[in-house]
Amino acid sequence: MSDSSISKFFKKTRKERLDIVGSFANLSAEELEILQNNNGGISFEKADKMVENVIGTFSLPLGVATSFKINQKDYLIPMVIEEPSVIAAASKGAKIARIKGGFEATADESYSIGQIQVLDADINSAIKKIQESSKEIINLANSKSNTLSKMNKGAKEVSCKEIDTPLGKMLIVELLIDVGDAMGANITNTMCEAVSPLLEKITGGRTLLRILSNYSTQRIAKATAVFDKKEIGGENVVDDIILAYQFADNDVYRAVTHNKGIMNGIIAVANATGQDSRAIEAAANAYAARSGQYRSLSKWTKDREGNLVGSLELPLSVGIIGGIANVHPIAKVCMKILKVSSAQELACVMTATGLAQNYSAIRALATEGIQKGHMRLHARNLATAAGAKPDQVDKIVQKMIEEKKISLDRAKELLEQI
Ligand code: MEV
Repeated sequence: MSDSSISKFFKKTRKERLDIVGSFANLSAEELEILQNNNGGISFEKADKMVENVIGTFSLPLGVATSFKINQKDYLIPMVIEEPSVIAAASKGAKIARIKGGFEATADESYSIGQIQVLDADINSAIKKIQESSKEIINLANSKSNTLSKMNKGAKEVSCKEIDTPLGKMLIVELLIDVGDAMGANITNTMCEAVSPLLEKITGGRTLLRILSNYSTQRIAKATAVFDKKEIGGENVVDDIILAYQFADNDVYRAVTHNKGIMNGIIAVANATGQDSRAIEAAANAYAARSGQYRSLSKWTKDREGNLVGSLELPLSVGIIGGIANVHPIAKVCMKILKVSSAQELACVMTATGLAQNYSAIRALATEGIQKGHMRLHARNLATAAGAKPDQVDKIVQKMIEEKKISLDRAKELLEQI
């Protein structure tokens, strides 16, 4: 099975969903078992080795967004998120985008940036000497990773910049490192630390911080898609969506919420695949403010036929090797479900998911509002919280929606009546 447009996936039983995902991604019996019986994925013992002071583990829902076609390839997209509606919204956006061919996406090679702060040096002559010794610096950095060197990756460039601070001018040396399919934080930090004694020797200065920059502007991912005007509800709705986008692009209070919706999609995939979501968020927010004003990360226009055209561009530093993606059993299975074979491909998928999410959010906001869809899910949560068994939930939800009385008390009353 290779078609990701699965009708009424949400109505299927867990077993049916797992069968579909298993056949789509060719999951082994062991991988299906991990999804079914692992209760969130990691044991206390594993958790205790990952971070400090561990007292337990914490699990979140893992769902699958359907209907994605990105660069002509079908994807089922695993998403880990606590918020209702997000997975449904991503799937809906993907379904509409699919009508006009799906998403087109690209991602830069994975170039990480490492920074070394050099103090107490004569900046102009230090820059000259660093430039003259750049080969030696790069070779020293690359001596820290045989793997990258063998693949003809690793440190590629050294550059210098001067920054002005209230405490005086400082020299910042930057290493540009091709980290391949890894996120690359560790190797970047290792290389920065490795070259700093050499930088001190060359410049006669003192190095202070030696750390990667999470502002990964050399790892930009882009996705674009056309959304059929008829499916959207006509050209008036297209125009309203564009007006809604202009609101976000020109008002920081709206832009933050608009971009948060994009991150709903991106971070849910990041969680499922074991990425550093804080790095992604921090970089995306800086990128949104790159013009000097915090703006929308996406752009919405229309084509000559009046269809809605969306595009999303942001820095995405992600990896498919290293990190917890290799340790967490569920993250590993999620990678397999995604069938991505490079960090760039993963970045393309995440960007398309962010765009699909953004489409559905602003389509809802520009038409019936966001609460209608939310309330059904909210009602489900309340029915469950009231103690309803899975076969009682639907009845209680339906009744609360009909009555327009959605509360925990009402859910409890209805449960008693059942
Ligand atoms: C909610 O998590 C996300 C939205 O607020 C995004 C938006 O307003 O565009 C619906």
